[in-house]
Amino acid sequence: MREKITVTKLAKMKKGNEKITMLTAYDYLTAKLLDEIGVDLILVGDSLGMVVLGYENTLAVTMDDMIHHTKAVVKGVESSMVVGDMPFMSYQINVDEALKNAGRFLQEAGAQAVKLEGGEEVADKVDKIVKAGIPVMGHLGLTPQSVHQMGGFKVQGKEEKQKKKLLKDAQILEEAGAFSIVLECVPKELATDITKAVSIPIIGIGAGRECDGQVLVTQDLLGMYDKFVPKFVKQYARLSNEIKRAVSDYISEVKTGKFPSEEQEFC
Ligand code: KIV
Repeated sequence: MREKITVTKLAKMKKGNEKITMLTAYDYLTAKLLDEIGVDLILVGDSLGMVVLGYENTLAVTMDDMIHHTKAVVKGVESSMVVGDMPFMSYQINVDEALKNAGRFLQEAGAQAVKLEGGEEVADKVDKIVKAGIPVMGHLGLTPQSVHQMGGFKVQGKEEKQKKKLLKDAQILEEAGAFSIVLECVPKELATDITKAVSIPIIGIGAGRECDGQVLVTQDLLGMYDKFVPKFVKQYARLSNEIKRAVSDYISEVKTGKFPSEEQEFC
């Protein structure tokens, strides 16, 4: 069996310049495949809202949605670290709510860590959750739960003021005890500066190749969703075409009486 991924192992990977891989999963079977292949971190992302529940953004995802899917993911995993994404309004209200909800991911769902969005403004929550013994992953740059405040899903950190704030936010999260930070959609030079400025692993998505690791939504990597493919996505397969072909073959074989054949029948 593969070595269990822990926060200590991830810190060693950064020190040793070993790249870290993270992918999303929302169900048992996908999680089991990702774990067996050897992905380091499995994120039960609130992208669940778009990918699984058909919402336009992540804002309507609830704690109960997240716990339900995190439980399923945890059942499929042996060695990867499972990170539960704290949904909108589960940590913003106050420190006590944040701690209570973070605790649910570990106690009810069996995750090993939680992720939440924001920098300085959530540092008190990160500090409290970490002090309770729960590893926290930060999320900076394009933070989808603030989509309306950002005026859409746009690259962040292009202006000097924003750059300085992102760099400072990363340092504040590290000081508050975060074990890692997702950095989404920022210019590659800024991502490089942030990666060098902190000692915790920076996991990039649309943040260039100098980050300590990379994360993608698994369905994007597999080419299952082609309505909109962001610039930072590389499709390693075109599963939507393959699924459509298989289902279309099934329909035609059922209609023509070719399936089931003798091979699939009981005597
Ligand atoms: O919700 C999610 O899937 C995420 C990743 C894209 C980082 O936050």
